[in-house]
Amino acid sequence: MKITAVLLAAGQGTRMKSSLPKVLHPVAGRPMIWHALQAIQQSTTEKPVVVVGHGAEEVTQYLGDSAQTVLQEPQLGTGHAVMQAEALLKGKTDLVVVCYADMPLMRGETLQKLVETQKQNKGPISMLTVVSGDPRGFGRIIRKDDGTVKAIVEEYVATPEQLQVKELNVGGYCFDANWLWDALHRIPKNPKKGEYYLTDTVELASADGLPVHATVMDDVEETIGVNTRVHLSEVEAAMRRRINQTHMMNGVTMIDPASVYIEADVKIGRDTVIMPNTYLFGNTEIGEGNVLGPNTIIRDTRVGNGCKVLASSLEGAILENDVDMGPFARLRKGAHLGNHVHMGNFGEVKDSYLADGVKMGHFSYIGNAQVGANTNIGAGTITCNYDGEKKHATEIGEDVFIGSDTMLVAPVKLGAGARTGAGAVVTKNIAEDTLAVGMPARSIRKVERKPKKK
Ligand code: UD1
Ligand code: CA
Repeated sequence: MKITAVLLAAGQGTRMKSSLPKVLHPVAGRPMIWHALQAIQQSTTEKPVVVVGHGAEEVTQYLGDSAQTVLQEPQLGTGHAVMQAEALLKGKTDLVVVCYADMPLMRGETLQKLVETQKQNKGPISMLTVVSGDPRGFGRIIRKDDGTVKAIVEEYVATPEQLQVKELNVGGYCFDANWLWDALHRIPKNPKKGEYYLTDTVELASADGLPVHATVMDDVEETIGVNTRVHLSEVEAAMRRRINQTHMMNGVTMIDPASVYIEADVKIGRDTVIMPNTYLFGNTEIGEGNVLGPNTIIRDTRVGNGCKVLASSLEGAILENDVDMGPFARLRKGAHLGNHVHMGNFGEVKDSYLADGVKMGHFSYIGNAQVGANTNIGAGTITCNYDGEKKHATEIGEDVFIGSDTMLVAPVKLGAGARTGAGAVVTKNIAEDTLAVGMPARSIRKVERKPKKK
């Protein structure tokens, strides 16, 4: 059986007061419509169709080939919107799932249940409803005596008696496709707004004597639709709770989940502890047994196992295992710290590899550099990697000892076992096992390497 989703995203979203199309506003770091598409995937078999209108170009560009799009121009209501998918889908699908792209909390499981209900239904429509004392402008559900749905009455046309109805239209439907395409053409134009309401298909079915089934959802939160930025913040908070709960159920400790911000796609291994005020963003993958935070921001970064990151900012970086960082350390794009690297306060690493066991205690900048294993980087060491026009590389061998306040004027190489005196300004390569001092530093004598600690 072929099941296709039609996602409505053509509306203007006026009340967002934004130049960004409503469905592209992020929730947990991903556009609302991304969440809607995730949920849809679980219950459908075909590529979804998204109805675009306002901001069509931006939305279409965002979607790429994750969906097909059809343009609704002008926007004459939700029924008219679904009609735009007819040419694409007629004869190509058995069931059509319709939902609105501004409901990012809707779960895939809920839509699955909806589809299952329709598979059992002899009539042409199954729909989702919720019972709530807070109607939020939703359409009211009018049931027949036999429990099937007779009509959906929009709030602004409802009688005082209908306004009392606590069962509300959520905005998720599963239709028999053949019936739907025909019914859409029978929807009367709404006299007040001049629009064609999808919700009027319910009355058409009911008038034809065909049963409409409603599944009452038990999680009201899932039904929050975003019309304003206040709703957006409600959805964000709910999504954040949901994400944090999932991680905790999978074995992640959070001292105070209310102060932990994790975006939708982040992966975290067991026994990692996340301290308060920690942000995990973007394409980030965290291994097992780490301690992150407090006061830490990690974006697009891979962290191995057993690392400690205290009050630091990491972006586009890689940490192998047992790295110890912070407080106040900063990793920028291309920073790669090997196993057991120690990076203390006020250090910055960019586009550089620090091999296993490198120690960089305090106040250093390492950019465009390769640093060999077990090298010690003294306080205040700077790779002077930029000459005003170009970036240049620094190569530092293993077991090097860089004295405090050394300037490494790139391009430059320090051989394995080399040493620099405090305050050296290194403008020329230093050979292996050689001590260099002064300004500019000149090599003065051979030195002995310390035996390796086991
Ligand atoms: C709709 C339902 C209402 C339900 C509520 C739940 C109708 C007539 N009413 O009302 O019963 O309780 O959702 O949130 O369907 N859209 C288009 N093209 C259009 C008009 C709308 O694509 O011409 C899209 C919008 O972008 C939005 C969705 O359809 O994603 C819903 O439209 P909206 O205007 O928000 O409907 P509501 O008034 O909220
Ligand atoms: Ca709405």
